[in-house]
Amino acid sequence: MKRLVDRLAAERALPRQDMLALLSCGDAETLEHLFARARQAREAVYGRDVYIRGLIEFTNFCKNDCLYCGIRRSNARARRYRLSQEEILSCAEAGYQLGFRTVVLQGGEDPYFTDERLCRIVRALKAARPDRAVTLSVGERSRESYRALFEAGADRYLLRHETATKAHYENLHPGDMSFDRRMACLASLKSIGFQTGCGFMVGSPGQTAEDLLNDLEFIARFQPEMVGIGPFIPHRDTPLGMHPAGTVGMTLKLLAIIRLLVPDVLLPATTALATLDAHGCEKGMLAGANVVMPNLSPPAAREKYALYEGKATAAGETADALSDLRRRMENIGCRVVVARGDHMGKPRK
Ligand code: 5AD
Repeated sequence: MKRLVDRLAAERALPRQDMLALLSCGDAETLEHLFARARQAREAVYGRDVYIRGLIEFTNFCKNDCLYCGIRRSNARARRYRLSQEEILSCAEAGYQLGFRTVVLQGGEDPYFTDERLCRIVRALKAARPDRAVTLSVGERSRESYRALFEAGADRYLLRHETATKAHYENLHPGDMSFDRRMACLASLKSIGFQTGCGFMVGSPGQTAEDLLNDLEFIARFQPEMVGIGPFIPHRDTPLGMHPAGTVGMTLKLLAIIRLLVPDVLLPATTALATLDAHGCEKGMLAGANVVMPNLSPPAAREKYALYEGKATAAGETADALSDLRRRMENIGCRVVVARGDHMGKPRK
């Protein structure tokens, strides 16, 4: 098994059968070897630096009805909110003062945020702090809309593909959502020039090992600048609320494999991982991750942005929380840096 890991590290690929064997391998020594290779690959590109992104969850209104998501439109129990431009700017500025040089605007697909409104916010963020990167995570939009947001100054865009298996996608989403459209959105984002992130949930209901292989193959082919993965965590007010959560172990294994498939990828240890494990963030770094996304949203909003239950509120909004994170990263030989943290293959525009 260790040979498979070495082969993956050297060739940035594995035949499907071998990848399947690795995915089902529970041998502690092999896994430690996999993590060590992943750390080595990360260090060769990014050293020991950990990049922080200030996450602002600015709306939980959503026109979509994803079967797993707590802010799906049919969830009448979700208490809806949206932040004003002023609130967004002030969260971002508080983050800047703490050292955040990337702000991530994440929200449901909220029709209130037209191109005009969203572009205005992006321009204001860039005007206030020209040395700050702006990442958007606002779902599927038209190519023209993506282009307008890029021209307004947005640098990066996160849109998880959720699963690279069409049939599985259709089991997780209602009939009015389309796998092909999602993939087309990702292709548009990349061709427009965004540093683009895809990603998927680990252990989503009905997910098979074959599906995970498809995700890994898609990632290797798409060559994203960023990949966000985290365990599926059930939310009781959704149709998939009775399914078990994904596991920390499988998430860590996949983080390491993704690091080896795409060594220069920006790879966060996600909130979902930290939700299932108090040391999820450290474990993620030790498996090859190099990004953390602390939450800068106002506390009232944070509570309502419940994609799943028990969401960790990895607070980044206070100096205390951040120095705690710094210390935790130093304990595992990493270093939180004050930097935009662009993808190495694609520096600023
Ligand atoms: N568990 C884990 N992740 C979830 N997401 C949405 N709902 C859940 C859930 N129940 C993820 C999706 C989405 C991202 C913003 O959050 O992958 O793309």
